[in-house]
Amino acid sequence: MQEEIKKLEASIKGELSFVDSLDKLETFKLTHLVKKGTIQSLFERLKDVPKELKPETGKLLNQLKQFAESEYQNLKTKLDKTQETIVNIDLTLPGRRNFKGTFHPINQTLTKMVEIFVSMGFEIAEGPDIEDTYHNFDALNFPPDHPARDMQDTFFIEGEGNLLLRTHTSPVQIRVMQSQKPPIRCIMPGRVYRNEAISARSLAEFHQIEGLYINKKVTFAELKGTLIAFAKKMYGNDSKFRYRPSFFPFTEPSAELDISCFLCKGRGCRVCKYSGWLEIAGCGMVHPNVLLAGGIDPEEYTGYAFGFGIERVTMLKTGIDDIRLLYENDIRVLSQF
Ligand code: DAH
Repeated sequence: MQEEIKKLEASIKGELSFVDSLDKLETFKLTHLVKKGTIQSLFERLKDVPKELKPETGKLLNQLKQFAESEYQNLKTKLDKTQETIVNIDLTLPGRRNFKGTFHPINQTLTKMVEIFVSMGFEIAEGPDIEDTYHNFDALNFPPDHPARDMQDTFFIEGEGNLLLRTHTSPVQIRVMQSQKPPIRCIMPGRVYRNEAISARSLAEFHQIEGLYINKKVTFAELKGTLIAFAKKMYGNDSKFRYRPSFFPFTEPSAELDISCFLCKGRGCRVCKYSGWLEIAGCGMVHPNVLLAGGIDPEEYTGYAFGFGIERVTMLKTGIDDIRLLYENDIRVLSQF
């Protein structure tokens, strides 16, 4: 009989580990804890047990009964509570919203610009953020004492003589010319640095995308056509464009590309300083001295170059009129794009 009690105890313990609902608990009770249940029927057979074994057998049986009953009570309390919580859940409440991240507006602009230029046959090239004065200025035809050097307030690297944080992406033009043979058709996106007072219009760190095309007999007309084709894809066919003569040491002739103001549609407003136009790119025909610095014969090849500011383009596209908003990473701003 003691054997049987031990077996029953093992089977009760096993069953208890599977009880995870009130239904299963009820079945457990009906099997073991009622008058006709397993434990009670063992009690009834106690009278047949030899006298000397009775006390011990009775004790074992009582322990088993107490164990089964207390486990039953514990589970009942626990499962009743779960039942209550289920009842208290309001299934009509709307679901919780999942916040998904998005690409930063600057990244979106950059991706779009790169996509358009790549679709026009341009390849992507990159150069270092830490440049030397040779690539950043000299090779780009900035004479040592030329005032154009002052146009770019530069962060020099202390104690490193000729090392600086590049002030524009144009030095990558030189690196590409030195490492590839024409025809060259490249865009060069990247981060640039200038020691400027931070304001709604300028930051000390921003992004540019440079372009370079070098081949035999490249013309200014091709430059104009390419940039207009790009700008129409970027801003839509309704935008108006104009070229203005300008000056850069590394291009001759040089020009700037303007787009009709997206806010006032050319009528004149605060954003376009009442001119109706916004500048979006600098460009020109690559200066012969620059071709020479890049190891390319200016008698045989010509080329055009251009440079866009990515923050500028992003501001025009999003209508954000303070450049600092692009770098504060306030989720209320970013989540709108
Ligand atoms: N590097 C010029 C700047 O930072 C932009 C630029 C103008 C790039 C004309 C060019 C170019 O390639 O041809 O303001």
